[in-house]
Amino acid sequence: MQAITVAVIGCGRIARNAHFPAFAKMEGIRIKYACDLLPEKAEAIRQDFPFVEQTITDYHVALQDPEVQAVFVLTPNAAHYTVTMDALRAGKHVMCEKPITVNYALSKEMADEANRRGLMLNIGVCNRYHRSVELLEQMNREGKLGRVYHVYCSFRSFRSIPGLGGAFTDKAQSGGGVLIDWGVHFLDLILYVLGGARLETLTCDAYSEMAKDMKAYKYTSMWAEDTKDVEHGVNDVDDFITGHIRTNKASISFNGAWAQNVKQNEMFIDFLGDKGGARLDYGKKFTFTDGETLTEETPEYDIPNMYRAEDTDFLSSVQSGVKNRNHIDFVLESARLLDALYRSAAQRRELRGDEI
Ligand SMILES: NC(=O)c1ccc[n+]([C@@H]2O[C@H](COP(=O)([O-])OP(=O)(O)OC[C@H]3O[C@@H](n4cnc5c(N)ncnc54)[C@H](O)[C@@H]3O)[C@@H](O)[C@H]2O)c1
Repeated sequence: MQAITVAVIGCGRIARNAHFPAFAKMEGIRIKYACDLLPEKAEAIRQDFPFVEQTITDYHVALQDPEVQAVFVLTPNAAHYTVTMDALRAGKHVMCEKPITVNYALSKEMADEANRRGLMLNIGVCNRYHRSVELLEQMNREGKLGRVYHVYCSFRSFRSIPGLGGAFTDKAQSGGGVLIDWGVHFLDLILYVLGGARLETLTCDAYSEMAKDMKAYKYTSMWAEDTKDVEHGVNDVDDFITGHIRTNKASISFNGAWAQNVKQNEMFIDFLGDKGGARLDYGKKFTFTDGETLTEETPEYDIPNMYRAEDTDFLSSVQSGVKNRNHIDFVLESARLLDALYRSAAQRRELRGDEI
């Protein structure tokens, strides 16, 4: 099998910590370009991952190269749209990080463009490749949970606002805060494990309370600290989010906090079924409780490198032309959900049916 030639656009943290280490262990991939607006970032990647052939600062160079078949878009959220659309128009397949982009309308445009051109467009909802999620999804399909009537999730952390004042907290660049950054994974997993669900009504409240005065915000550690800008940057996104969703299957409720004045981290999803229930500890394992025997079971499994699994599967899709689980078509519904939740919060009211 001939290797697929790719370009990687955006050489920040997710590139360095997740995708490049995955590429290093993958077969059938040739990294012709590492691209970043900041040349030192792309160069640092090439130093540490010497299989990268060239570094560039303008991604159009890679898009004009007929050898490049696919690109990885690993930039901040707003640029997902611009770079992906340019790549599709240049005839390249795309693997784009989560969230799809800053809102549903643009996400839908991306899906339409890819489908019109017959190109693959996958989204980095990597947790779908976690073994615990695969098994739980299978158990639900096999009816082991019975009727799942409610799902509750919590993604709350003590002090985790990422890169305060940088791209993560600037709505124009990110599309939102904790809901679009962390909630995207949780709500996506819920819909995935349920096997999809029709959204009927929803209501949501969003707060931005903990870093109203960015310079006074206290934290013990900060993800993406190298991009923080508390002097001149913007923080206009949610740091706490809460909501309730009714679907034709389960109802769903959630609380999420990038930061809160409770010194406790919680990252889990509870699936409540009439035959059994499961707590999925995010990124770890799940525990199933059988309603008849009242016994608990925590399945043993290897935790795979999710990024390697999703990137390998993306390349297989490019080769086979068969859409896999992370294809944008199967992720759009959670983008629609996020968008509607933000609208509900902005309008301070419940949305129903066609309004979603
Ligand atoms: N799958 C996950 O669990 C996961 C985890 C972390 C981040 N992410 C996503 O990955 C994306 C990047 O996050 P990050 O933490 O790596 O951010 P980052 O700021 O560390 O890296 C982004 C890089 O993109 C570069 N860039 C921006 N616009 C560009 C352009 N037009 N051309 C070339 N380079 C450009 C920036 O200079 C920067 O180096 C975000 O969308 C984020 O939501 C996903």
